[in-house]
Amino acid sequence: MTTLTTEPLATLIERLYTQASAATSPVLDTVPGEERERLMRSKTEYLELYGMLKDLWLPVSRDTGKLLYMLARSAKARAIVEFGTSFGLSTLHLAAALRDNGGGVLIGSEFEPSKVALARRHFVEGGVDDLVEIREGDALVTLACDLPEAVDLLLLDGAKALYGDVLGLVEKHLRPGAVVVADNTNYCPEYLTYVRSAQNGYLSVPFADDIEVSMRLG
Ligand SMILES: C[S@@+](CC[C@H](N)C(=O)[O-])C[C@H]1O[C@@H](n2cnc3c(N)ncnc32)[C@H](O)[C@@H]1O
Repeated sequence: MTTLTTEPLATLIERLYTQASAATSPVLDTVPGEERERLMRSKTEYLELYGMLKDLWLPVSRDTGKLLYMLARSAKARAIVEFGTSFGLSTLHLAAALRDNGGGVLIGSEFEPSKVALARRHFVEGGVDDLVEIREGDALVTLACDLPEAVDLLLLDGAKALYGDVLGLVEKHLRPGAVVVADNTNYCPEYLTYVRSAQNGYLSVPFADDIEVSMRLG
């Protein structure tokens, strides 16, 4: 048995995925597809984009959630950093792994206050709030200091054009063997070039459609 597949987390996660698929964003519907694509790749207009997306959950897929749990368990993770928390679905999977690893800390990041407030309620409901610290504000600021000395796993799931910058903030904390999971990498080719270039100290493979799983080499 695992924390992920037993109560209260199992039912909570199912309920939240149902809520996530029912969420809509009338504002986003008015933005033409080409403009959305441009905003997804923009390094300067992410506040505007995610302001329009503030009612959408945008969670990792169910399979990616399970993959995160598995990777965090097999890395025996005790310290996890997450870029892009939203309403906390990925966080719940990772926090479950921390619990089953014997405890630890997950530092999340989210700049939308309404998302932070609801995510925190989900962590209480899931019984993992003691493991999770969400830093409210732009991750470029909130993840720039006070990180654990050794980070075991980093999830990149915020503004796509910032993956390289956020990795740059966390990189010196990644222990040898630490895992970096990046979602939606179709939008950030520069990030892929970086983690796939041998001289930068990662072993990196694509997984499923648009996920990159990288390991920090020692
Ligand atoms: C794809 S969603 C995250 C989904 C979440 N990982 C999950 O699986 O439930 C991306 C989130 O990152 C947040 N975000 C984007 N750029 C950010 C930044 N620079 N700092 C903090 N949060 C950011 C957005 O507000 C949005 O809620």
